Amino acid sequence: MGERGTFLRSFVAHPREVGAVLPTSRRAVSDMLDLARVEDARLLVEFGAGSGVYTRELLRRMSPDARLLAFEVDRQLATALGAEIDDPRLELVTASAEDVERHLEGARVDILVSALPFTSLPTAVRRRVLDVSPGILAPHGVMLVLQYSPLVQRDLERRFASVERRLSPLNMPPAFLFRCTEPVDAR
Ligand SMILES: C[S@@+](CC[C@H](N)C(=O)[O-])C[C@H]1O[C@@H](n2cnc3c(N)ncnc32)[C@H](O)[C@@H]1O
Repeated sequence: MGERGTFLRSFVAHPREVGAVLPTSRRAVSDMLDLARVEDARLLVEFGAGSGVYTRELLRRMSPDARLLAFEVDRQLATALGAEIDDPRLELVTASAEDVERHLEGARVDILVSALPFTSLPTAVRRRVLDVSPGILAPHGVMLVLQYSPLVQRDLERRFASVERRLSPLNMPPAFLFRCTEPVDAR
């Protein structure tokens, strides 16, 4: 089964968690990652790796000694991705993004990339992920968020002093991209 087939199967099994029928387009991935200096980052985190469209492009742009922790809660997607990508910079974590602090062991994140479907996730999960995110960032850290609606913007603005919004119109459906900096609740 190809990348799209594996993704679609996971959507059918867990529609609220997967939140999209197709992986994000390469164009939207590129538009989003252009919003941060991936090549300068030492530690990167990805929430919701899915079939790996961001993972592969992050690894392509990352420096040779940087590290990427990619969280994917769906065991089938995580297994397929782990079998496909063999890169010592990648640590694939088959767990919920809610647990990110435990896996970081105090390290601070330069770039956090999320394509989690915040509007369809259970409210408690959405809140825990959004609450934990600002506090794991380094002082200059950036959180990039892809969504298919602007609804999450208010949640982001409560947690970050700066939230910039862009549209990636050629994605299907068009994608809203958020660049969040200056955590309000930085610990
Ligand atoms: C909209 S898909 C995005 C997949 C991929 N990043 C892309 O852009 O095509 C959302 C992904 O987040 C995963 N996911 C949902 N809830 C999660 C959670 N709490 N922690 C980690 N991953 C989660 C889903 O299994 C799914 O693979």
